[in-house]
Amino acid sequence: MAKFTLPKNSRIQPGNEHPAPDGARRIKAFKVYRYDPEAAGNPRLDVFELDLDDCGPMVLDALIKIKTEQDTSLTFRRSCREGVCGSCAMNVDGRNTLACTKAIAEVAGDVAVYPLPHMAVIKDLVTDFTHFFAQYESIRPWLQTDSPAPAREWPQAPEDRAKLDGLYECILCACCSTACPSYWWNPERFLGPATLLQAYRWLVDSRDEHAGERLHELEDPFRLYRCHTIMNCANTCPKGLNPAKAIAEIKKSLVERHL
Ligand code: SF4
Ligand code: SF4
Ligand code: FES
Repeated sequence: MAKFTLPKNSRIQPGNEHPAPDGARRIKAFKVYRYDPEAAGNPRLDVFELDLDDCGPMVLDALIKIKTEQDTSLTFRRSCREGVCGSCAMNVDGRNTLACTKAIAEVAGDVAVYPLPHMAVIKDLVTDFTHFFAQYESIRPWLQTDSPAPAREWPQAPEDRAKLDGLYECILCACCSTACPSYWWNPERFLGPATLLQAYRWLVDSRDEHAGERLHELEDPFRLYRCHTIMNCANTCPKGLNPAKAIAEIKKSLVERHL
């Protein structure tokens, strides 16, 4: 079996220990990845002990408590705190998820918290989404039409609107793309599950008039066909969506187009 070794400057070192406050009764340890680009040195794993009797129920609650009470330099993104904005995507207990919807109680033992895998780390749990969003922009995620614009909105029948269910809910958190082995190996050329799910969302929108061009641009051995139906994307999506199915539907549309 192939063995992969991290470069020396990427190996994670033991970090600082922050014990639980005196009198804590229900102690849980959080092992949190830390990386400060301004400080020389490798990434490290800090251990923070919290009293669960004095902490909210979600992993994000714990991170906010750590930042407030134990180490103000801990850096992570968050906004809505209810699984809507996608900002708090990270790897918790070995799985990509949203820290705000991941219950601490779901993790047996210590809680390992890492940034999303295979993305450049800016600081601690914050990763660089520049490339991810450039790929998203490349599929032109907006309504494209040639017909004269209607006086009011573009109408859509309820049954056509229903075709967007399971697609429109995507919050672009990147949990799926950063869990996809094909995306790990070809992030420059493979669009990845999140962007492809979004591409399908516009392909099946009854109001869009550029489906032919959209399909043409996707028909590429790397952009689309690097997906080998490994299904990590569907397994990890915190919104319960199935990018692999959307990708399969795009492939089906391409086959039908040639018949
Ligand atoms: S499909 Fe799911 S995991 Fe992927 S970006 Fe959208 S919400 Fe996140
Ligand atoms: S099904 Fe395709 S997109 Fe999803 S994880 Fe597997 S290879 Fe990646
Ligand atoms: S804070 Fe918005 S999804 Fe978690």
